[in-house]
Amino acid sequence: MHDDHELVRLVGKLDLPAKVRLLAGGSVWHSCAEPLIGLRAMTFSDGPAGVRGPGWDERRTSLALPSPSALGATWDEDLVARLGGLLAAEARRKDVDVLLAPVLNLHRTPYGGRHFECFSEDPLLTARLGVAYVRGVQAGGVAATPKHFVANETETDRLTHDVRVGERALRELYLAPFETAVVEAGAWAVMSAYNQVNGHSMSESPLLTSPLKDEWGFDGPVVSDWGAVRTTVASAVSGQDLSMPGPWGPWGERLVAAVEAGEVPEAAVDDKVLRLLRLAARVGALEGASLAGEASSAELPDAVEGTSSVAWPDTDADSSSDADPNCDARLLREAVSASTVLLRNNGILPLAPGLRIAVIGPGATAARVQGGGSSGLYPSAENNLLDALTQRTETVHAPGPRIDDRPTPVNAPVLVRVLGADDEVLFREHRLTGRILETREVPGAEVLEISTALHVTKSGPWRLAVAGYGRLTLDVDGVRVLDVVQPLDTDDPAVKHLRPPHHDVEVSLAEGAEVEVVARRELGEDSGMASMLAADPPPAVHGEAEAVEAARSCDVAVVVVSTTDAIESEGRDRHTLALPGEQDALVRAVCAVNPNTVVVVNSGGPVLLPWRGQAAAVLLTWFPGQECGNGLADVLFGDREPGGRLPTTWPGEETDVPVKDYLPVAGTLPYDEDLDIGYRAWAKNDVAPAYWFGHGLGYTTWHYEEARVERDVVRVRVRNTGERAGREVVQVYLSRPDSAVARPRRWLAGFAAVTAGPGESVEAVVGISRRAISHWAGEWVVEPGAFTVLTGPNAGHTPLRLERENALLPW
Ligand code: BGC
Repeated sequence: MHDDHELVRLVGKLDLPAKVRLLAGGSVWHSCAEPLIGLRAMTFSDGPAGVRGPGWDERRTSLALPSPSALGATWDEDLVARLGGLLAAEARRKDVDVLLAPVLNLHRTPYGGRHFECFSEDPLLTARLGVAYVRGVQAGGVAATPKHFVANETETDRLTHDVRVGERALRELYLAPFETAVVEAGAWAVMSAYNQVNGHSMSESPLLTSPLKDEWGFDGPVVSDWGAVRTTVASAVSGQDLSMPGPWGPWGERLVAAVEAGEVPEAAVDDKVLRLLRLAARVGALEGASLAGEASSAELPDAVEGTSSVAWPDTDADSSSDADPNCDARLLREAVSASTVLLRNNGILPLAPGLRIAVIGPGATAARVQGGGSSGLYPSAENNLLDALTQRTETVHAPGPRIDDRPTPVNAPVLVRVLGADDEVLFREHRLTGRILETREVPGAEVLEISTALHVTKSGPWRLAVAGYGRLTLDVDGVRVLDVVQPLDTDDPAVKHLRPPHHDVEVSLAEGAEVEVVARRELGEDSGMASMLAADPPPAVHGEAEAVEAARSCDVAVVVVSTTDAIESEGRDRHTLALPGEQDALVRAVCAVNPNTVVVVNSGGPVLLPWRGQAAAVLLTWFPGQECGNGLADVLFGDREPGGRLPTTWPGEETDVPVKDYLPVAGTLPYDEDLDIGYRAWAKNDVAPAYWFGHGLGYTTWHYEEARVERDVVRVRVRNTGERAGREVVQVYLSRPDSAVARPRRWLAGFAAVTAGPGESVEAVVGISRRAISHWAGEWVVEPGAFTVLTGPNAGHTPLRLERENALLPW
């Protein structure tokens, strides 16, 4: 491992243009190499729910983990650290050095479109899981990159909106998880966000220097969000270090000129290069530098908010080559049950053996295993609920009404051709899908063509579609059926490169025919990567009636309801929390004919459940990753209990949602609610949500017997009063009714999970950090006097209360 002295010497070997060249990407997913100092290019990949690797290619699959909101529901640092180890092995397998994850932004409102990519509405839970994630990944010699620093909770006008937030909320809520990831977990990189905070674009923000670098001692590079560096001088004099992607962008020659003109000190450039070299040394991209994984936890400074001790995975960076796929699948399957939240249960779950089950909803065969946007990947294997249940018992399947009316990319072999002038074929390859996000870049490319021999399985009007920016055409058996120009109307990379608008046409086709369908897109200067050819057969009449009939004929109905990619995706917020389509009506109709209806909610964040009182049981499965079917079947049949607890509050009515101003007005988004987001805001408004933060039932019951405080530890005795062994997440909240400073009604101060057999009583030992009793007043301050301690299974139910002489006193 190089020491800083050696790295400084390497920086000194480079002239100004060579140094500046290193500060922008060498490509979309790589940094630049510099042979003169033994530096190779580093490879970056998106996370957080898997490692896609550089590029988007359906032939390069990845393990799909549950979404971070699901990991938030585990409240399990050990499990998240083990999943971090799995991510590191995946990264090594794909030659990835830097994982662009975890996301440490908060669920400020339930409307956030990227809700599924964040752990929780609570800063402490986010911080604890963030530390576990970063440590798990970095122990494998791969850099984690907590993002998006900071206050990046909204997708509307996401490249520019200006969050106006008070210093105290900034410190106590939004910066806190980043602080822990840096100070406690020693993150090797941090990604700055697109948005502005208090008038400064985050890639130019003074927050990059203070607190991130000077106060917290962050010594790695601040990596920009993709395309977020938009100025030369203002960003270069700030703490922004690496401008991604590259080699284009506003640094390069313009930054060299700015340094020569004295507008940017050369020392600032040197510091950025030094930080980049530290990262390179840590991931093994600098000659002579060993993988730094082993050193990472030993070098950690004291904990900021330690609440529990965790055994970190002993991940060997080289172990990926002989990774056991069954072992990976087992871990992913365990994560599904550990994150599934049982909201209500009249006793129907776990299911008795031998029942005949109606399995209803499109999500039963094609669940949303991941959210939309840059975190997307091609899962290496996926199992579905219908198959998993059918392996165990007799099932009847009814898909119910279709909920997603976007065209479906051709799911069959296609031929992709890159054409030059006069249709000269410059490159051709066979691919497995009609959604082509990336193919070979060829000089002189003018057209991207996708063609397929479409086998017509049903007579009637087929919907054919083409998507992308530029001139789009569609030919069927040589006849042009569509010719449109789609002008580029966005700067947002997630839209431009991943989800461009589509145009469709209806063509009548006869069953048994094979027709040649050819989609072409004229490639412009900057027209994005994505091209798509989609084909949908005439709609099947899979309606509610069929689903109701199936439910009526079975002992139990399991209905899977889902959001769609158009609702929960990067690049957009939600405008309603209602489930799309006719799903609420479907659930009501099924419940009406079968009292044993279990509803499985497949969404990344909260949706309204207006029928919840009619369902026998309601389970939240989030976006569960590729072990979706097996993991859920384990829960339904009781092989494992649903281990999840809500990481975010679920509203009953949209009108009750306390923090609703998620849309920037004239570019500005005030965080006026200050410290009160999530359960804190519901408590302040004295309104009960449908389900409180922390809620989740499991398959046994618990009695909170006694709590006592010992200095900085709260000991809580709980008894398993049910008939099965189980795990309980004991939560400790503090409150300070007579405080001299404004405070939330209650706030999470610590948690610990315990397991116990039937009838057994166990003690949860919950460590409280000094930070949990501190508030920000220009520095961290502890108000003298007692803090009331509230202990219980969720933020709205804390049966044990310790105050006065039993309360917690600052130590
Ligand atoms: C997203 C980041 C992501 C980056 C690279 C951006 O649009 O905000 O989370 O890491 O793209 O894909």
